[in-house]
Amino acid sequence: MTQRLTITRPDDWHLHLRDGAVLRAVTPETARHFGRAIVMPNLVPPVVSAVEAAAYRERIMDAVPSDSDFTPLMTLYLTETTDPADVAYAAATGLVSAVKLYPAGATTNSQSGVRNIDAVMPVLETMAEIGLPLCVHGEVTTPDVDIFDREAVFIETVLDPLRQRLPTLRVVMEHITTEEGVKYARSGGENLAATITTHHLIINRNNLLVGGIRPHYYCLPVAKREKHRLALRDAATSGDSRFFLGTDSAPHLDPLKLSACGCAGVFSASNTVSCLAAVFEQESALDKLEGFASLNGPAFYRLPTNADSLTLEKRATPCEYPAHIDTEDGPITLFDPGFDLHWHVV
Ligand code: DOR
Ligand code: ZN
Repeated sequence: MTQRLTITRPDDWHLHLRDGAVLRAVTPETARHFGRAIVMPNLVPPVVSAVEAAAYRERIMDAVPSDSDFTPLMTLYLTETTDPADVAYAAATGLVSAVKLYPAGATTNSQSGVRNIDAVMPVLETMAEIGLPLCVHGEVTTPDVDIFDREAVFIETVLDPLRQRLPTLRVVMEHITTEEGVKYARSGGENLAATITTHHLIINRNNLLVGGIRPHYYCLPVAKREKHRLALRDAATSGDSRFFLGTDSAPHLDPLKLSACGCAGVFSASNTVSCLAAVFEQESALDKLEGFASLNGPAFYRLPTNADSLTLEKRATPCEYPAHIDTEDGPITLFDPGFDLHWHVV
C-alpha cells in the first residue's frame, strides 16, 4: 500500500541563497517545496542596512519562478556599527524578520561580525523592545577552544550571559549541533528557540572523516560525535515547539569545496524534504514532521502558517535527485544522505 503524507507547506528558517548566478540557480530549488525562508545576509559585502535588504529582496524575487508563491524573509547582518534606528525601521515596515549575529571569524563571510557584544547592546535592546528575533551563530572563535567544543563554550560564555542581561530578547540558536545546545534550548522560556539542519540529523563526524575526507559534509558548526546527532534527532522528533527546521542549505561551487582549504557549507535545498521524511520515519515520528517543518517556526516568528500543503508519497522506487545542480558559474553538489530516498514530493 502506498503511504501518503500531507502536511502544511513547510518553511526554511535558515537558508543561504547567495547572489548572482548561484542565487538564480538555487532559489527555484527552495521555492519548489517551501513557502518561506529566512534568508541569511552573509553576502560579500554583507547585507547590513534596510536599503541593502530591500535591494537583495528584489534580486531574490527576480529569481523566484513565476508560478511560485515563495516569500523570502529578510535578515540584517549585525555589525558593531549597526544603527538601532535602521533596524527598528526595517522591522516596522515588515521588510526584515530577524537580525543575524555572527561572531567575527566564526564562519563564511563573518569577518564583519561582532567582536564585542557590548558594542551591539543598543541594537539588541531595541530588538528586545520591538520583539525582533536575533538569529545566533553560536560558536566562539577563540583559537584555543577546540572546534568540536565551540558551541558548548559559546552557550556558557556568551549566550547565557547575554540572555541573563537581556531576558526579553527573542533568540534563535541557529543550527544547533550538540546535546548541550538541545539542553540549553529546552531550558529556555518562550523567548528561546533553536533550528536544526537536515544534514546534522543524518551525519556525524565519522561521515566527514572516516575512509577519506568528504568535503561536501564539511559545514559549520562541524558535525559532532554520534551522541550529539542522536540528541538532535530526539529534539527534532519530540514535538517540542522550540525546535524547528532551518536547513542551513549553503551552496558553494564545487571547486571552492574541493580545495586544500575548502568552504564550509552543505547544499541540501533540493532533497531536504525527502531526507526529513526518511529521518522522521526512521524515528517512528512521521506525525511530528509537520510540527518541525511547518508549524513551530511560524509560531516562534509570530507569523501565520502557510495556507497550502505539501504531499509526500512513499514509493518503492527511490527519488531521483540530481547529484549536483548547474549554475552559470559551475556545479554545486547536492547533499548525499548516504541512503536511498523513497519519500517523493508529489
Ligand atoms: O556551513 C556553513 N556554511 N555554516 C555557516 O555558518 C555559513 C554557511 C555559509 O554561508 O556557507
Ligand atoms: Zn548558515
